[in-house]
Amino acid sequence: MTDAPKVLAFAGSTRTNSYNKVLVKIAAAGARAAGAEVTYLDLRDFPMPLYDEDLEAAEGIPESALRFKELMVSHQGLLIASPEYNSSMSAVLKNAIDWASRPLPGEPPLAAFSDKVAAIMSASPGALGGLRGLVHVRSILSNIRVLVIPDQIAIVKAHEAFNSDGSLKDSQQQNSVEKLGAKVAQILTKLQR
Ligand SMILES: Cc1cc2nc3c(=O)[nH]c(=O)nc-3n(C[C@H](O)[C@H](O)[C@H](O)COP(=O)(O)O)c2cc1C
Repeated sequence: MTDAPKVLAFAGSTRTNSYNKVLVKIAAAGARAAGAEVTYLDLRDFPMPLYDEDLEAAEGIPESALRFKELMVSHQGLLIASPEYNSSMSAVLKNAIDWASRPLPGEPPLAAFSDKVAAIMSASPGALGGLRGLVHVRSILSNIRVLVIPDQIAIVKAHEAFNSDGSLKDSQQQNSVEKLGAKVAQILTKLQR
C-alpha cells in the first residue's frame, strides 16, 4: 500500500471573488476524488514583500514566504490557477515562486519545485481565458524542474462561466477540470509504485 499523494492547490490571485480560486478548487476536488490528499491555500494568507535581494540578505526569507515554501516542499503535486495580467502571469504568483525558489542553508537547489508534478489552468473574463499567461507559467515552472503535464485548461468569459455553488455551468468543462486535477493524483500514484 502506498501513501496518498499530497497535492497543493492555489491560485495566483489574492482577490476575494477570484475566478481562479474557484477554478482551482474544482481541480482540487478532482484530485481528492482520485485519492490525493489535497491542501488548498489562499495566497492572501501569505502576504509577501516584493522579492528584493538586499531585503533577503538583511532579514532572511520572510515568515510568510517560508510558510508557503514549506507547504510546497511537503507536497508532491501542484494545481495552479493563474490569472492573466497583461498577457502573462500575475505578479503575486511570480513573487511567490521567486521567494519559494530561494534556498535555505543545506537545502538542495529548488527544493520547492524539483520533480513536482503540476497541472496549470486559468480563468479570465476575456476571450482567450488566460491562455497566453499559461505559456509563461509552463515555461517558468519547467525551467525550475517542475514536471508540468501537457493538459491544461483556460476558461473564457469567466464572469459568466460559474454557478454560485462554484461549479462550472458547462458540465463538460466541469468534468475536464476535475479530470485535470485527477490526472496529477494518478501520475503521482504511478510514480510511487
Ligand atoms: C493589471 C491587469 C491586467 C490584466 N490583463 C489581462 C490580460 O492580459 N488578459 C486577460 O484575459 N485578462 C486580463 N485582466 C483581467 C483579469 O483576467 C481579471 O481581472 C481576472 O478576473 C483576474 O483573475 P481572478 O478573477 O482570479 O482574480 C487583467 C486585469 C488586471 C487587473
